[in-house]
Amino acid sequence: MGDGSVLVVGGTGGIGREVARRYHERGHDVTITGRNLERTSAVAAELGADVGALAFDLAEPETIAEAISGLGAVSRLVLSSIARDNNPIRDYTIADAINLTTMKLVGYTTTVNALIGRLSEDSSVVLFGGRAKDRPYPGSTTVTTVNGGVSSLIRTLAVELAPVRFNAIHPGIVGDSPFWENKPLDAVIQRTPTGRLVTMAEVVDATEFLLENRGVNGVNLAIDGGWMLL
Ligand SMILES: NC(=O)c1ccc[n+]([C@@H]2O[C@H](COP(=O)([O-])OP(=O)(O)OC[C@H]3O[C@@H](n4cnc5c(N)ncnc54)[C@H](OP(=O)(O)O)[C@@H]3O)[C@@H](O)[C@H]2O)c1
Repeated sequence: MGDGSVLVVGGTGGIGREVARRYHERGHDVTITGRNLERTSAVAAELGADVGALAFDLAEPETIAEAISGLGAVSRLVLSSIARDNNPIRDYTIADAINLTTMKLVGYTTTVNALIGRLSEDSSVVLFGGRAKDRPYPGSTTVTTVNGGVSSLIRTLAVELAPVRFNAIHPGIVGDSPFWENKPLDAVIQRTPTGRLVTMAEVVDATEFLLENRGVNGVNLAIDGGWMLL
């Protein structure tokens, strides 16, 4: 994997936490981030006594460089943070749209920028988008837009920062993720050829593949059980 640690931005919950758990279990030096240092430190301690914790808000990109200034070399970077934004265009809330757009597009990019000197030619990065980029739903305008933006962002980053590899993962609805578990999802399941929702473990497997396979670069990988086929 080369020298350096694994940094999971948005590692306090959901899929990001499971990615951090996977890499820590494999014996890697892992740091997670969230917005609140106390909460992030508590999650890090649950994952392992040697898991690092940092706090910053991606929606305040000017603060990111300082917040991660203490990190050494970074071999694997995962950007998995999200702010949910149900924002119908007929009842549009500008502040929510700015928050999500800033955190996922400017915030993700600023994190990469701040780490440039600590990435090596063997480093790789995975950004999280989502299948809403292709299948919108009422209220998804900002989510659909930013996830579409992620699919383009990896291409510019992979070119500008070559040979560092940049890939994106676009999950469908992840049935056992904290946001979705216990919500009625029969309509989505019926429209999924595999007859089930994807799991966090499957998304973590795919993330690891994108991070570790040195031939994969600039790829937008959907993990959705074939949801778009029906
Ligand atoms: N779950 C799904 O079904 C699904 C489907 C499609 C795409 N995705 C994508 O997969 C990724 C992970 O989703 P998830 O459901 O696992 O997420 P999640 O459980 O909601 O976790 C979100 C993470 O983002 C962090 N976060 C929220 N706002 C932030 C901000 N302004 N600055 C920095 N960090 C912030 C949270 O940290 P704190 O709250 O501790 O600050 C937390 O660690 C997201 O990018 C999402 O869009 C998920």
